[in-house]
Amino acid sequence: MSPTNRTAATRTPDWAGPLPASLSACVVLGLAAFGLAAPAAADDAASGLAKSAICASCHGPLGLSPVPTYPNLAGQNRLYLEYALRLYRSGERRGDQAGMMYTVAQALSDADIAELATYYADLPRPD
Ligand code: HEC
Repeated sequence: MSPTNRTAATRTPDWAGPLPASLSACVVLGLAAFGLAAPAAADDAASGLAKSAICASCHGPLGLSPVPTYPNLAGQNRLYLEYALRLYRSGERRGDQAGMMYTVAQALSDADIAELATYYADLPRPD
């Protein structure tokens, strides 16, 4: 594990404050364990974690949405997540609730999308 990985994996994200300590620990431990197995992808996942703060309000800090009409992202296919985010950004994906994602996606670069997709794809799926 490179020093960069170690720093990213142990940094407390801004949104971790109100979470129960056990949940925050899960995120940090999960990233640390992941970093041991796949350093390159862990860099993306760690960056994705940092960039996911704004997403957490609607999709939950671990990709499990607290709002029943919003989708879970945890464990979804990485390429599907990238595809969805690109289509929201371009305005091609529309629908009743897609306007929220259009606004959010305007701020995302291609690199942001790749990192966020890796981050959410690597989170454990809901049972
Ligand atoms: C204001 C609430 C809100 C925020 C903030 C938000 N989302 Fe969403 N997101 C939604 C809603 C609602 C949908 C469902 C939209 C639809 O019907 O197409 C959605 C859909 C998605 C989808 C498609 C899921 C699927 O199963 O097709 C992805 C991927 C996604 N969001 C990623 C993100 C990411 C990454 C961020 C942060 C950069 C983010 N969202 C921020 C509300 C939000």
